[in-house]
Amino acid sequence: MKILSKKIWLKAKKVIPGGNGLLSKRPERFSNSSWPIYFSKAKGVEIWDLNKIKYTDMSIMGIGTSTLGYRNDQIDKRVKKSINKGINTTLNSLDEYLLAKEMLKHDKFADKVKFARGGGEAMSIAIRIARAKNKFSKIAFSGYHGWQDWYIAANLENNKNLNNHLLKNLTPMGIPKELRGTIVPFKFNNFNELSNLTKKEDFSAIVIECGRYNYLSKNFIQKINQLCIKKKICLIVDEITTGWRETNGGLYKKLGIKPDIAVYGKSLGNGYAISAIVGKEKYMKYGNRTFISSTAWTENIGFNAGLAVIDFFVKNNVSEHLIQMGNLIRKGWEISAKKNGIKLEIGGLKTIPSFQFKYTKNNEKIYTFFTDMMLKEKYLATNSIYLSYQHKKKHVQKYLFTLDKVFKKINHLVKNKKKLDKIKTRKFNY
Ligand SMILES: Cc1ncc(COP(=O)(O)O)c(C=O)c1O
Repeated sequence: MKILSKKIWLKAKKVIPGGNGLLSKRPERFSNSSWPIYFSKAKGVEIWDLNKIKYTDMSIMGIGTSTLGYRNDQIDKRVKKSINKGINTTLNSLDEYLLAKEMLKHDKFADKVKFARGGGEAMSIAIRIARAKNKFSKIAFSGYHGWQDWYIAANLENNKNLNNHLLKNLTPMGIPKELRGTIVPFKFNNFNELSNLTKKEDFSAIVIECGRYNYLSKNFIQKINQLCIKKKICLIVDEITTGWRETNGGLYKKLGIKPDIAVYGKSLGNGYAISAIVGKEKYMKYGNRTFISSTAWTENIGFNAGLAVIDFFVKNNVSEHLIQMGNLIRKGWEISAKKNGIKLEIGGLKTIPSFQFKYTKNNEKIYTFFTDMMLKEKYLATNSIYLSYQHKKKHVQKYLFTLDKVFKKINHLVKNKKKLDKIKTRKFNY
């Protein structure tokens, strides 16, 4: 008998706020009706839904966690071995120390590492450390940095402040109003805006992402490096999405950013929960002076996943492969868009290519149609792809062949108002 995922999802919403714990995996964000919602198993780049229907994941790959592919044998082997020894005991995990040493080999600017499990909580730790040392409440930021109060407080001043930093319409409900003004946004890559902020007030930290839809410019990087050194502001680079992807360690290395603290998550565990705050001694010593401590941060699975991931990256030239696949995909999109007369803007990072449709008022309908048509061909597909080591040339070629067929359909769709009007769109916003 066919299992109706949508029915389960509606029931789940009655017992779990929102249906699950992560906005980015909610089916409404992908499709109005046909997203498969639940998985029964996954391997490599393939996912089986509850009815054992197999899809190839050319979308978010566990929202950027599974850079080495689902159920990577080498990572799982090390993790399973560690489970057999014990997870969270009265005594400490030696692997915490080993992973810290390993990370410091790749983050040469840093002296110490502190581990957590989630990305957002790791960012909160970095902020606490920066404020503990520099003493000012204010933080300047661009980009997305998680769900915690320090960040969402940006919308207390103006509830649109976070709109251009990934997630739109986030309400600051539940955030103490006293945090108003403690966190100030500036536009990605806009040094003048940032510089003006720092002329008016003192900041403990500036928080950036190295890139999202595109990369920080050389000019911005040179100036932010100088600014942070001159004003003794803690430069925090959020590598939760960019780290252990385009290079071994943080993307800051390739771009020439000089961080005081870098924060990792996602890829570092290939799906197992592990995040890390890596920083200079002058900051990290505050990681023990202010109280930052949690039971789950000492369990053993995350450390072993991290160690196995780093080992795999170093031995297999993973980044090179991801970049190659990214180039192939970008080229394929370009050719197919041109051939089918699709209005498309291509961007994203080398290892997370993305595109935007450019159909103004019909855009949302076209995104939804694209995903629905790709689903019919058994692809999980959105407008960005978090590439993994298991996305091989054969997957990319087959995907591009299918995408070309769907782009052809879009070409027909945009000329057919009646059909367009009938499409019920995904609900992408919060
Ligand atoms: C750059 C960045 N920072 C922070 C976070 C939050 O991480 P998490 O969802 O693990 O809490 C994310 C998650 O998407 C992210 O992309």
